[in-house]
Amino acid sequence: MRRAYIKNLREHLDQEVEIRGWVYHRRSSGKLHFLVIRDGGGMAQVLYFKGDVSPELFELSDRVPLESSVIARGKVREDKRSPGGFELSGNYLEVVHSAEPYPIQPKEHGVDFLLQNRHLWLRSPRQAAILKVRDELIKAVREFLDREGFILVDAPIFTPAACEGTTTLFATDYFGEKAYLTQSGQLYMEAAAMALGKVYCLGPTFRAEKSKTRRHLTEFWMLEPEAAWYHLEDVMDLAEDLIIFSVQRVLERRSEDLMVLERDLKKLEAIKKPFPRITYDQAIQLLAQKNINIKWGEDFGADQDTALSADFDRPLVIHRYPADIKAFYMANDQERPELALGVDIIAPEGFGEIVGGGEREWRHDKLLEKIRKHRLSQEVFSWYLDLRRYGSVPHSGFGLGIERTLAWICGVHHVRETIPFPRMLERIYP
Ligand code: 4AD
Ligand code: MG
Repeated sequence: MRRAYIKNLREHLDQEVEIRGWVYHRRSSGKLHFLVIRDGGGMAQVLYFKGDVSPELFELSDRVPLESSVIARGKVREDKRSPGGFELSGNYLEVVHSAEPYPIQPKEHGVDFLLQNRHLWLRSPRQAAILKVRDELIKAVREFLDREGFILVDAPIFTPAACEGTTTLFATDYFGEKAYLTQSGQLYMEAAAMALGKVYCLGPTFRAEKSKTRRHLTEFWMLEPEAAWYHLEDVMDLAEDLIIFSVQRVLERRSEDLMVLERDLKKLEAIKKPFPRITYDQAIQLLAQKNINIKWGEDFGADQDTALSADFDRPLVIHRYPADIKAFYMANDQERPELALGVDIIAPEGFGEIVGGGEREWRHDKLLEKIRKHRLSQEVFSWYLDLRRYGSVPHSGFGLGIERTLAWICGVHHVRETIPFPRMLERIYP
C-alpha cells in the first residue's frame, strides 16, 4: 500500500493509497459516511459507502471521535467538493487512538479558553495557516540576508547588560550574580560586525512589558542585522528591501494560507519600492494636522503610529527622533545634535512599529558620556566600549519584530496568534 501525503494526492489519482492523520470533521448521509482527515499538510475527505465496506467498518466510520488519530486507505478521486479537491473512496480505517471528547468545537470560543488550550488550538486551520506563514517569513528573511552577504551569528540569551532600558528587564539569578534575559542581540552583533562585516541574529528576546496590548509579548523573536560602515540611509534601504522581498515571497508561496486567513492580498501586493520616508519633525506636523495631541519631544504610541500610517499603503519610515526618547547607543545627527540617527518603520493598516534601529555611536568618549548619562554601569559595558578602542568604524543596524511583521502580513489583530506559544503578562501556560 502506497503511503501518501494529502497535499500530494493529485499525483496518486485512481491509485489506492494510505493516508495517516486526525479526524477533523465527520458527517453522514445515511448510506455514506464522510470523514474529513487532516495530516498537517492538508485535508481530504474519505467516503465510506455502505454497499462497499463491511458493516463493522461502516459503523466505525460513523462513530470515530473528532481528533482521533487514524489510518485510512482508499482509491483517490478528484472531487471539487472535497477540501483539497481530492477524496478517497475508503475501504479501510484503523483508529490508532480514539480521542476523548474534543474541547475545541467549531463554535466560537472565548480567547482565554483558546489560549488555555493553545496546545490543541494549534490544530485549527487558521492557526496552522499562521504557523506556515511564520515558517515562510523566517525562511525569507534569512534567505534575503544570506543573498546580501550577511553571516548568521547567534547572540546569547543570558546577559549582564540592559540594551533597551532598565524598565523591561527580566532578572534571573546566575550562580549568585544578577543576569537578565536578553532584550536584544544588538550589542553582540556590533562586536560580530567588527569581526565579519555584515552579520545578523534571529532569536527570542524578552521584555517585561507590563502593558496588555495587542502588540506586546514578553517573549518575541527578533531579526537583527548589523553592518560595519553602514549609515542611517543604508539601513533604511536594507530594511525596505528586506520587507519587500519577504512579503513577495509569502505571497508567492503561501497565498493559500493567506486566503484561509481571509487576508486581502491586494494590500500586500501594494508593498513596493519606495516606502515613504519622513522625519520625526514631519511626523509631528502630520499629527498636528490630524488634531492628534502630541508635543515635540514625546514618543509615539500606538495611537500616533496608527494615525500616521493611515495615509499610506506601504510601510512608513520615520527617522531622526529626539535623542532623549531613544536608546543610549544611538549616534546623533551632526547638524542637529538633539536628534538621534534612529529609524522606526510603521506597518500599514494600524499594525504598529515593526522595525526599530539606526546608526550607532562609534566614538569611545561620546559613547561613554551616553552610558553615564543613562546611569548605566560602565563596568558592564566595558567590553562594548572596547569595540570603540580597537579600530572603531561607523556602523548601523536594526531589529525587525517577527510577530508584529506576521500580524501585519497575516492581517491578524493580535500578536498572540503569531507565535506558537505566546508569553504575555498573566500568561505562561501552556
Ligand atoms: O525598537 P526595538 O526596541 O529595537 C531594538 O531592540 C534594537 N536593539 C534593535 C536593533 O537595532 N538591533 O525593537 C525592535 C522591534 C520593534 O520594532 C518591534 O517590531 C519588536 O522589535 N518588538 C516587539 N514585538 C513584540 N512584543 C514586544 N514587546 C516588542 N518590543 C519590540
Ligand atoms: Mg522601537
